[in-house]
Amino acid sequence: MGDFETTKEVVTPKTLIKQIIGQDTAVEKVKFAVKQRRNILLVGPPGIGKSMLAKAMSDLLSPPTVEILITDNPQNTNKPLIKIRSRGESEAEKDPVNEFGKIQTANEVPTYVSEVLGFRCITCGNTSRSKDRICPNCGEDKYRKIAQRKRASLYSDLITEVIEAFPQEPEREIHATRINKEGSEETLIYQRIQDDKIRVLDQQAINTIKEERMKLKEMVLLPLDRKTFVHATGASETELLGDVRHDPYGSHPEIGTPAYLRVVAGAIHEAHEGVLFVDELPQLGNLQAYILTAMQERKFPIVGRNPQSAGASVKVVDVPCDFLFVGACNIRELKDILPPLRSRVVGNGYEILLETTMPDNDENRFKVVQFITQEINNDSRIPHATGDAVEVIIDESVKMAEALDKTRDSLTLRLRDLGGVVRMAGDYAVHEGSDLILKKHVEKSIKESRSIEHQLKERYGSYWDALRRDETSNLQGVEGDKSYL
Ligand SMILES: Nc1ncnc2c1ncn2[C@@H]1O[C@H](COP(=O)(O)OP(=O)(O)OP(=O)(O)O)[C@@H](O)[C@H]1O
Ligand SMILES: [Mg+2]
Repeated sequence: MGDFETTKEVVTPKTLIKQIIGQDTAVEKVKFAVKQRRNILLVGPPGIGKSMLAKAMSDLLSPPTVEILITDNPQNTNKPLIKIRSRGESEAEKDPVNEFGKIQTANEVPTYVSEVLGFRCITCGNTSRSKDRICPNCGEDKYRKIAQRKRASLYSDLITEVIEAFPQEPEREIHATRINKEGSEETLIYQRIQDDKIRVLDQQAINTIKEERMKLKEMVLLPLDRKTFVHATGASETELLGDVRHDPYGSHPEIGTPAYLRVVAGAIHEAHEGVLFVDELPQLGNLQAYILTAMQERKFPIVGRNPQSAGASVKVVDVPCDFLFVGACNIRELKDILPPLRSRVVGNGYEILLETTMPDNDENRFKVVQFITQEINNDSRIPHATGDAVEVIIDESVKMAEALDKTRDSLTLRLRDLGGVVRMAGDYAVHEGSDLILKKHVEKSIKESRSIEHQLKERYGSYWDALRRDETSNLQGVEGDKSYL
């Protein structure tokens, strides 16, 4: 199984696609899909890597080549126009922001700012280029540390599971406030430029830029440096398809906000030149039809979706939305996918039933070791595990394959659950002040993480016995003690 004393010595792959274990067919198809621009439907139970595969797919794409702008339509302000600008054109264009503000280095701005923009390492305090994910001074993963701090902060609810699990690039821009000499509050904007400098805009600069931009009568809807992974979560129409915000002054020429500035892109547009990932696809219900249209047309209008709002009279036609589609669902829901959407995926892509187990052999056991190490590195609040501890985890993986998927001599690929065992064992180790996860920590973790059904069986003999006792105690409660009535 490879020679190692603790998982500290185990080297894990850098890229997400190589970190995926046991799903070789799916990985291969994902690579094809990127090359040939195909769509994908991933089917399988929770926690076996559907989101991970979709994210890995987006990592394989090249960065976007065009920027999408919305401009005012002088003929009809309620029908703003789309402008597409290539990278070259966009760079040649004189953006007013480039003429204002002060350029500073990471050591001249407040510590928090240089951390969030990806320059300063939270662990050792050294600054380096923002594109260096690993701190050249102490070897820590700068991006991951920031993502963890974010997760631990007040805003944790807003961070989706995917962003949490796969931290991306640091922020490109942050806004701060300060009290100026006159005693009033003003905004400061810090922008990262070219990965080694920061532009600082004070309130005055911000106001001037706003005015200059208003003169241009255009707004960037989708910037060049947008992310290539868009996770459409909710079943909300506006999130998926975009919207036009309400203006209480109805685009009044003096006091209103012009329509083109109120246009909001939907997930299908944000995914232009990237991956649109729709988890639990069947739950989108009727909205699936819109995805199908978007896939066929590769463009989709943005309209105000609230009939009561002044945005309802605004429409932008032909907004590009050329994305690779990745849908995910479990087996039971497969029948609820809109048939034409499914046939579109089949006709121009791949449907993949993910594996739930893999054969128990040396090669695959080592993959589990790699997985355990990844989970420990990703968590970074728990220590490494000894070889003994790893063996107990692997044994559990065999038992899980047998219990959950009725396959003998196999290792489970229900890896979210197995990762839970690793993390809980890590927490016990930390609690005991141990530098390593030991065998006993894993044993305790396995015992405690057994499902309720399993625990009931252990205590009452069978699930049904437990159920019966539960009922009788309830009935006793009703018949005997009536004081609560
Ligand atoms: N094949 C795999 N290789 C390596 N790690 C995996 C794999 N599958 C799952 N994991 C681990 O489990 C976590 C959860 O996986 P993921 O979110 O991709 O599951 P999912 O199939 O999308 O589940 P759900 O249906 O609940 O959304 C991942 O972040 C990763 O740590
Ligand atoms: Mg998922």
